[in-house]
Amino acid sequence: MTDSTYNLNGGFKPTTKRFADLNGPDFFPTPAWATHALIDNESFSGEIWESACGNGAMSRVLEHASRSVISSDLYDRGYGDSGIDFLQAKRRADNIVTNPPYNAAEGFVRSGVSQAKHKFALLLRLAFLEGANRANTIFSQCPPSRVWVFSERITFYPAGAVQQGSGTTAYAWFVWDKDAPSGTELKWFKPGYKHRFN
Ligand SMILES: C[S@@+](CC[C@H](N)C(=O)[O-])C[C@H]1O[C@@H](n2cnc3c(N)ncnc32)[C@H](O)[C@@H]1O
Repeated sequence: MTDSTYNLNGGFKPTTKRFADLNGPDFFPTPAWATHALIDNESFSGEIWESACGNGAMSRVLEHASRSVISSDLYDRGYGDSGIDFLQAKRRADNIVTNPPYNAAEGFVRSGVSQAKHKFALLLRLAFLEGANRANTIFSQCPPSRVWVFSERITFYPAGAVQQGSGTTAYAWFVWDKDAPSGTELKWFKPGYKHRFN
């Protein structure tokens, strides 16, 4: 099975997430601990827009980091404003934080970098770092300021699925910080978030 939009330059090992990405609306709520790891290590000044909020799994944790969290999604999943396509949105926000649909990650980077006034943070596969197309576009034109690599594996389940087993894919938070000097810093989360916030 191939999907030209999923990975521009090669084959990932298929996973549950990959097949669901291809066949479904790509709704994978982020486990709370993965968002706690971000807000424990990055500060956010002003409002935060969760621009693909799903059922609010990430928005609820972001409320610990900002008094003003705006939530929207293209689909109505019972949380925030629905019918808002982030790839077309013109709204700006102090900060934008989300876990995007993976097959639209490049578009989310383009929109987020232009719409965020301070920080734009995306939860992505670590393998997003690879690929000639991204090297020639995102990483040469607007590289992230920091990449936070998880030392513990995140397991994503389609909403409503029975949770069993553990993840096989490495993830990282990619942070574009308008107030940081140019260049990309590679950082690692200390182990323990999964246990502390699960
Ligand atoms: C991987 S889920 C993550 C949900 C939530 N951010 C979280 O972390 O729990 C991706 C979400 O992106 C939404 N989505 C897909 N395309 C979108 C678009 N163009 N604009 C806004 N949201 C979109 C989906 O409906 C889905 O809820």
